[in-house]
Amino acid sequence: MLEVSNLHVKYGNIEALHGISFHVDEGEMVALLGANGAGKSTTLMSIMRLPPPEGPQVTKGEIRFNGVDLLPVAAHILIVKYGVGLVPEGRHIFGNLTVFENLKLATYARKDKDQIEKDYERVFSLFPRLADRRWQRGDLLSGGEQQMLAIGRAFMSGVRFVLLDEPSMGLSPLLMLELFRVLKELNESGTTILVVEQNARIALKYAHRAYVLEAGKIVLEGAAEALADNPEIQKAYLG
Ligand SMILES: Nc1ncnc2c1ncn2[C@@H]1O[C@H](COP(=O)(O)OP(=O)(O)O)[C@@H](O)[C@H]1O
Ligand SMILES: [Mg+2]
Repeated sequence: MLEVSNLHVKYGNIEALHGISFHVDEGEMVALLGANGAGKSTTLMSIMRLPPPEGPQVTKGEIRFNGVDLLPVAAHILIVKYGVGLVPEGRHIFGNLTVFENLKLATYARKDKDQIEKDYERVFSLFPRLADRRWQRGDLLSGGEQQMLAIGRAFMSGVRFVLLDEPSMGLSPLLMLELFRVLKELNESGTTILVVEQNARIALKYAHRAYVLEAGKIVLEGAAEALADNPEIQKAYLG
């Protein structure tokens, strides 16, 4: 579904990704692991085509989605036409809007109005905490609830391929598990997922496959169980 080949990316004159290649098949949940500064967010921003100056500049390589070249495609088109959405790092929800309003806002470009009602119910059943707080302002939610709302919003936008940037950041171990269980459930019901994580342990528990990024290069890849058993991974990422 997503195919990234020999991607080189720069910020100004400094190259941040040195020719990375990876792919995500339809229906998969794939993790992109790596330490702080490895280039994980840069990879996601490159796929979403966030333009310079804040965004990275692709200098070489290809990003294809179902065969289509994504490099000339703007982020909003990517969401509406191709069904690819990003849940960025940090929560970026609207604090002055209610939980329901935040979810509703995500549906503005959808044409399948009948499905929208079902999707609200699905989000509220996946995240009962959000259902209980449906009429509460976003800024009154806990960090974990805000993260759930950010994911719920991606789901409500109707995308079928979700990129997530460190969803477990700042969550308690219990909430982290809850969050990944929901991601798995979303994945099993048809959403393809590329999740960026520093927490390799939890990502390898739930993903099908993973890639390890180190200083802008992919240094390891494979099935999640195999990577979890890999001594190098255990030493560097699983403590
Ligand atoms: N806006 C930016 N301008 C310049 N350099 C950046 C910018 N964002 C990230 N970088 C650099 O690119 C590299 C990769 O960063 P990033 O993709 O944020 O890593 P990660 O998400 O894995 O922590 C780092 O060396 C970082 O300092
Ligand atoms: Mg990052």
